[in-house]
Amino acid sequence: MAINNKGVRVILGTGGTIAGRASRPGDNVGYVAGQVRVEDLLAGVPALEGMALEVEQVEQVDSKDMHFDLWKRLLERLAHHLSREEVSGVVVTHGTDTLEETAWFVESVLRPVKPVVFTCAMRPATALVPDGPQNLLDAVTVAGLAEVSGTVVVCAGQVHAAEHVAKVHSYRVDAFDSGDAGPLACVEEGQLRWFHRPPAANTPDGRADDLLARVLAAPALPGVHIVTSHADTDGGLVRALLLAGDADPGLRPRGIVVAATGNGTVHRALAQVLSEASARGVRVVRATRCARGRVIPDPANPWPDSAGLSPVKARIALALALLAGDVVPS
Ligand code: SIN
Repeated sequence: MAINNKGVRVILGTGGTIAGRASRPGDNVGYVAGQVRVEDLLAGVPALEGMALEVEQVEQVDSKDMHFDLWKRLLERLAHHLSREEVSGVVVTHGTDTLEETAWFVESVLRPVKPVVFTCAMRPATALVPDGPQNLLDAVTVAGLAEVSGTVVVCAGQVHAAEHVAKVHSYRVDAFDSGDAGPLACVEEGQLRWFHRPPAANTPDGRADDLLARVLAAPALPGVHIVTSHADTDGGLVRALLLAGDADPGLRPRGIVVAATGNGTVHRALAQVLSEASARGVRVVRATRCARGRVIPDPANPWPDSAGLSPVKARIALALALLAGDVVPS
């Protein structure tokens, strides 16, 4: 196992429960996220002593409030540190609630060659038995491994690919899962045990530089919304989006991800309004609302599938494709 101990590892703090503080010791739910500074989190992990680490507090946010400006700031700091020869990898501490979205956004835009390791905690730093310190230690370990490339998530002893990971539990410390793909590996006492052959490393990519420049220059992502197909829907939300766009061109939806039933099916009332939206140039993509599985590609369907991405990640993929000009209004 090649541990690049000579490399500097940078830890970027963004907040979350890992940095949360409760007023009553032992309270695992009544806390405020994003309170403890990242250097203080590191100070609570004696096993990190002596390692070449740098820290930077990018933000202190409850990740339910994650927003595009913070994503851009994070991209800038990541691009800066990853370009430094002496840096072997970067760890990002993040809230669990939207971690899978930020990790996928970072992977999609930067396609980093070095490891970018997101980590988190389900219990605040003030908990009787916090899970953050072990997750942080594991994440720093993974960020020093030369055999890891790209954006991964480390939580509860498992390593997940940004593409597949999702938060699947609201309370348990092992809150993340990679669905049918399964985790990539586990971290056992500082050693990585791969469950699969390590995925092909990202390679330096001029297209990623171009996309990064576009993202950093954009005031906002193109407006892509998620609607769920469910029993008894009347498509009213999509109609409201179209009406809002008629009243104010700045609110015109550019894309809609439908969290469809089963293998990408859509309630006929919603399908009718989505057809109107398509006819008006709104891109529609079908993801499944099922926790597992994917929408199987169907060239006969007017609305493409999400290539296995969950609705929240399909939203990011479509917004970035619109920004890059990879898809044009129909
Ligand atoms: C957050 O997502 O910032 C709060 C919840 C968590 O980290 O578990």
